[in-house]
Amino acid sequence: MAKSATRFVCNECGAVAPKWAGRCEACGAWNTLEPQAVVPTGTGRKAAVQAGRGIDFVGLAGETPPPPRIPLGIEEFDRVLGGGMVPASAILVGGDPGIGKSTLLLQAAARLAASGRRVLYVSGEESVAQIRLRAERLDLKTAPVNLASATVLADILGSLRAERDAALVVIDSIQTIWDETVESAPGTVSQVRANAFALIQAAKTQGFALMLVGHVTKEGALAGPRVLEHMVDVVLHFEGDRGHQFRILRGAKNRFGATDEIGVFEMTGRGLAEVANPSALFLAERHGNVTGSAVFAGLEGSRPVLMEVQALLSANGAGSARRSVIGWDQGRLSMLLAVLDARCGLKLGGHDVYLNVAGGLRVSEPAADLAVAAALISAASGVPADPETVFFGEIGLSGELRQVAQVELRLKEAAKLGFGRAALPRRVAGGTRRLSAPEGMVLAEYGHLSDLVA
Ligand code: TYD
Ligand code: MG
Repeated sequence: MAKSATRFVCNECGAVAPKWAGRCEACGAWNTLEPQAVVPTGTGRKAAVQAGRGIDFVGLAGETPPPPRIPLGIEEFDRVLGGGMVPASAILVGGDPGIGKSTLLLQAAARLAASGRRVLYVSGEESVAQIRLRAERLDLKTAPVNLASATVLADILGSLRAERDAALVVIDSIQTIWDETVESAPGTVSQVRANAFALIQAAKTQGFALMLVGHVTKEGALAGPRVLEHMVDVVLHFEGDRGHQFRILRGAKNRFGATDEIGVFEMTGRGLAEVANPSALFLAERHGNVTGSAVFAGLEGSRPVLMEVQALLSANGAGSARRSVIGWDQGRLSMLLAVLDARCGLKLGGHDVYLNVAGGLRVSEPAADLAVAAALISAASGVPADPETVFFGEIGLSGELRQVAQVELRLKEAAKLGFGRAALPRRVAGGTRRLSAPEGMVLAEYGHLSDLVA
């Protein structure tokens, strides 16, 4: 007998539970479970499973050409995509409300349309009039984008089915689309999953690239369903500090390319402008000769980026000391403080420590260790770190400095921005690689962190 059943899916994390509960066991969120019909089990399913035709197996050898790419024409965007959109792929662009997702995608749509490609832009959030207003502000009114305001999935699919040569379809946002056959409100996990599935199917059949906008919850996850991230080919996060004007497009998943590239934009009165030289932007507000500041020569994907690391110490007589970190790893800071204490005799236990990567960037490279250490040492000693020096190098538990990748690229970027000196790990004696430093750049090589303290 075919038996239909109901299961419960969490709106926050997408976890499945056999019975309803007030609280999701997987993520702990309250009142997020909602019912969902399960495909019938029993004989009907058995028959369907037994009707399978079998699959074709092939050998490991064989020519696989790289996927074709359609560049949007916005270099910062195309770089993060891995050189442009892959036809028939699905791209999810997530970010906080108000960060500029609609602006970015409208600009991308317009740029692609202006190059002669067919582009459809469907908004479930704004009316046609509102989008036209934005287009006017962005000076995009002449771009031949096909614009619609719609939320009903069946209607959208009706148009997409007839679509022969669209290169890009934008859906802003997936949370506003409504599948009438699914019994829950727009934005819930069942809705988002059903809508995304249908739209992605349409992209695969018709061959257009699909861009879905997804809102991010206050916890920082792509709203509700993490399931969505598994369904698409590319996940991009559009992020930035609301107080600052620049925005970063970051790859979180990419089936067709690397995920460590970033695209940098600046939000202006006339939309998002590409920032070809992010180092200059990130260092623009830096004041030379202050204590607790050091410049890190970092790497974001294939591109070197200079950024300022700031540390502040304040004496804490009572209680446990605070460690507050923005833009870096909390555990990594604890480790560095322990190394400074145990290996270099720099005791900061009685101090609150605040660490900040200026401009809202997030650094994950261990190479930032040396810059953070320099900022901490400067803050502790009251002596400004040399404002003409960039720092990079990984620090080990015994305080030894370790080599990092792409030294020459970092040095070149530093020289380009007028830095005359670089503090970096000492090269191993007899090392095979020769370092070609930019002309005029002085290299201060350290073997151990205590040398820097001294
Ligand atoms: P928007 O793209 O609507 O954000 P999202 O789709 O991520 O919710 O951008 C909203 C913000 O961007 C809004 O606060 C106004 C600002 N903005 C500019 O500063 N300049 C512009 O040219 C545009 C179009 C928006
Ligand atoms: Mg929007």
